[in-house]
Amino acid sequence: MKIFIDTANVEEIRKANRLGVISGVTTNPSLIAKEGRNFQEVVQEICSIVDGPISAEVISLEAESMVKEAEELAKIHPNIVIKIPMTPEGLTATKILKNKGIKTNVTLVFSANQALLAAIAGATYVSPFVGRLDDVGQNGMDLIRDIVDIFDIYGFNTEIIAASIRHPMHVTEAAKAGAHIATVPFKVIMQMTKHPLTDMGIEKFLADWETVKNK
Ligand code: E4P
Repeated sequence: MKIFIDTANVEEIRKANRLGVISGVTTNPSLIAKEGRNFQEVVQEICSIVDGPISAEVISLEAESMVKEAEELAKIHPNIVIKIPMTPEGLTATKILKNKGIKTNVTLVFSANQALLAAIAGATYVSPFVGRLDDVGQNGMDLIRDIVDIFDIYGFNTEIIAASIRHPMHVTEAAKAGAHIATVPFKVIMQMTKHPLTDMGIEKFLADWETVKNK
């Protein structure tokens, strides 16, 4: 399983990248808006930090405009993946981009059928939103399991990104379910590194070392 970071904050990306566990980045218009910076400039900077797939989302709702936007974004860097919303127009755009050799991440996926259609259209990635489903009382992880089962049966190459991750248990569950990738906020990545017994263990080792270090 791979870990992507779900943020447009370059400082967070730098810090997470230093851990050596990040292999891609996902952004969305809300994450970009939080930074209050020029979109293309932020995406360019992210590409200079992480050498892996960097998702940048289109804002058009109609296929031809999505494709135009995608072609512009794809010029920024070879690692750019175009995030396309899961709509009928989005599927059309996904298919066109597939034929043009541009990678896509079909986002805002909330059902197995949406993921199935995205894979058939040739999406490189699908992003089912686990946390937002949990928020409305539906088990988000069940959706990941369903998509993994369906993609396995038919041998789709489309990779599943467990998105809208809210806490470390979501990552564990997504890994157990067989998601190829989890895209994880910086805070949750740092939470994943922690265990109180690790901290206590270090403290004890150092305290014991103090008693013999000058002998
Ligand atoms: C996925 O690529 C999205 O950027 C993200 O995971 C959305 O998460 P949220 O539901 O916490 O906004």
